[in-house]
Amino acid sequence: MKTIVIYHSQTGFTKQYAQWIAEGARADCLSLSQAKSKNLNDYDAIIFGSWARASAVCKLSWFKKRIEGWKGKKLLAFCVGASPLESPEVQKALKEHFHEPKLQEIPLFYCPGGLNYEKMSLSSRVMMKLFVKVLKGKKDQTPQEREMARMISSSYDLSDKKYIQPILDCLNR
Ligand SMILES: Cc1cc2nc3c(=O)[nH]c(=O)nc-3n(C[C@H](O)[C@H](O)[C@H](O)COP(=O)(O)O)c2cc1C
Repeated sequence: MKTIVIYHSQTGFTKQYAQWIAEGARADCLSLSQAKSKNLNDYDAIIFGSWARASAVCKLSWFKKRIEGWKGKKLLAFCVGASPLESPEVQKALKEHFHEPKLQEIPLFYCPGGLNYEKMSLSSRVMMKLFVKVLKGKKDQTPQEREMARMISSSYDLSDKKYIQPILDCLNR
């Protein structure tokens, strides 16, 4: 099965997962900007991955617009975020995905990434710092919010190759 992994990444976590998946699936691997000028008709399977931004998947609209034109191909998507896999926010987002028209048939996977303030754009860094400030200043903070504020105040890395296994299993099913 000829497979391609297309990724959109700002600070490198999604790129790393895309490369791990491509390695495991013996697939081609391109960034979204490279893929835009490539003819994808030859591929039997297309895996799209991008990072979570404000509870949405960045550039998912590019993938969604093409779904109808890719009938007959195996399509999978994965999202990389700063939250751990077991976080209730992640589980809720994954459930909601299956109610979204066009995406209902497409398996979506979540891979924990992290935060890398050094590689972030200035606007992203400002948004994250603002979010931390709001969380820290919140009255009646829950223990989860307190822990989250502490966690996202600096860079960290939760990524692990083990999280790609469900994606490879689904591809080979
Ligand atoms: C502006 C902004 C908003 C974000 N929103 C979320 C979010 O809603 N949920 C989440 O889990 N991570 C969120 N993140 C964290 C990124 O998804 C995370 O850092 C991811 O690993 C980045 O992937 P990349 O290295 O491929 O760019 C956000 C990051 C930024 C900069």
